Amino acid sequence: MNLFVETYGRQPDGVWASPGRVNLIGEHTDYNEGFVLPFALHQRTVVAAGRRAAPGWTVRSRLTGETVHIGRSDLSPGAVKGWAAYVAGVLWALVDAGFAIPDCDFAVESDVPLGAGLSSSHSFECAVLTAVEGLGDFSIPGIEAAKLVQRTENVYVGAATGLMDQTASLLCTAGHALFFDCRSLEVEQVPLDLASDGLALLVLNTNTPHTHADGEYAERRRSCERGAEILGVRALRDIGVADLPEALAKINDDVVRRRVRHVVTENARVQDAVALFRAGRVREAGPLLTASHASMRDDFEITVAQVDTAVEAALRAGAYGSRMTGGGFGGCIIALTDTEKAGSTARAVEDAFAAKGFAAPEWFTAVPSAGATRLL
Ligand code: GLA
Repeated sequence: MNLFVETYGRQPDGVWASPGRVNLIGEHTDYNEGFVLPFALHQRTVVAAGRRAAPGWTVRSRLTGETVHIGRSDLSPGAVKGWAAYVAGVLWALVDAGFAIPDCDFAVESDVPLGAGLSSSHSFECAVLTAVEGLGDFSIPGIEAAKLVQRTENVYVGAATGLMDQTASLLCTAGHALFFDCRSLEVEQVPLDLASDGLALLVLNTNTPHTHADGEYAERRRSCERGAEILGVRALRDIGVADLPEALAKINDDVVRRRVRHVVTENARVQDAVALFRAGRVREAGPLLTASHASMRDDFEITVAQVDTAVEAALRAGAYGSRMTGGGFGGCIIALTDTEKAGSTARAVEDAFAAKGFAAPEWFTAVPSAGATRLL
């Protein structure tokens, strides 16, 4: 808001916010048409926006201090690089889908940790999308809006991501986790009041840069597609855990076999976790989180030393369960603990990091928060 006034010398027409997310369980299942269980964080990207008389769009970022101009000719995939691509990409996806969008100025601020697997880029894209919807006086239904943001990522930005992050940012509600079926695109708001159960969800940022993460992500995706092809199914979602031994026996390539095993077992873990959550037995989902981590570490091979160390230390400190959250190759871990043990669990990880010479982690406890909203 202030940034907008400082930059453009007038009040914005509105202010919109869209959150980052934590994924409780279900990693790399979304593009396999499986299930995921994220919830929205209180950390969010805030976009103030106002119509402008001159053609095109201007965006100012508090994080970089830069102001970038985007013209009509920039609305083709790849034309804008860097952080402003998230804005140009959303504008491109809207125009490409036939929406008449107003020329406008934006100012953006965010407290979602960047590059930490908490979906900072999707929260940015969703905030821009809702701002343009607001100023353009049109409204795109939730899942359609999520698909539009996915096109931004897949086609404009060039990252082959699935549909979890933008759906979480747009559709999550306070006090709930979002059970999302990435095939039927049905969503269920699953009540999640950790505090009343005496629980906390610790989110700890291992501060590991995910070098090569994009290439590795795309490679994982290709392995999954290869697995589905070998098994003659549309997506790995179509393989149940009961069919797994037979399915694995058909795959000669050891890497593909392990990738398939991760996705199939992870998909089952999401459904098991949801059943426990619905029954109010959240604590008992701990071992599912830990099993998810082992599967990501050994079969999907997307963890790094800092992440494994953090999970092990959290479990040693008495967490009910712990796992990396997000796309992988660094980023954050989550740990389900008793409320009063969140701090001591984080300190146990800090000690383990200090002992190994890893940079100190940052942490907070997460509360299921609201999805995209208009603030002003
Ligand atoms: C990233 C992607 C998501 C999802 C996760 C892994 O966050 O944006 O679509 O694939 O990785 O679960």
